Amino acid sequence: MTQEGCTIWFTGLSGSGKSTVSQLVAARLRERGLKVEVLDGDVVRTHLSKGLGFSKEDRDTNIRRIGWVCEILSRNGVMAIAAAISPYREIRDEVRSKNPQFIEVYMSCPVEILIERDAKGLYRKALAGEITHFTGVDDPYEPPLHPEVICYTDGRETPEQSAAKVLSSLTERGLIEEEG
Ligand code: ADX
Repeated sequence: MTQEGCTIWFTGLSGSGKSTVSQLVAARLRERGLKVEVLDGDVVRTHLSKGLGFSKEDRDTNIRRIGWVCEILSRNGVMAIAAAISPYREIRDEVRSKNPQFIEVYMSCPVEILIERDAKGLYRKALAGEITHFTGVDDPYEPPLHPEVICYTDGRETPEQSAAKVLSSLTERGLIEEEG
């Protein structure tokens, strides 16, 4: 049996759990013997998007590149997982239009909670004006209007529960088989 690919696109603010939950989803899919690749914004920016900054233009370029790699991977039967802030709705929708099986996962968490957690210390720097154009502080984030999945990462769900929601959505769409 050949595997049908898809693109699972995590979007949300910095610290909202994109990397954590995407890695969990990837692990669960690999356990089933499926081919999976994760394209994480932080990692992609050290390779494919090295040298890009955080202007709208550079972010759009970054997202288009990640979207293009997902397109190639998924049409070759891989489950391509993207985890990038991807703050602009229009560019996410552009990527969606090129990826026939597109599952958009919105990591929903109020910025106030992320500021409190501040795992990387970047919100503090942004609030102090040491970093500018920081998403959610002095740069925009446009939440998806019709995401396939919403994960509430404000403490209401554990990362495992969020990952399970994504896997259920894949099952509902016939992209993976029901476990049993
Ligand atoms: S995106 O906007 O182009 O999708 P991406 O997900 O690749 O962003 O990278 C975001 C990561 O870059 C953040 O998690 C954070 O570690 C780092 N970063 C550095 N500067 C900024 C900034 N101004 N805004 C957002 N993230 C930033």
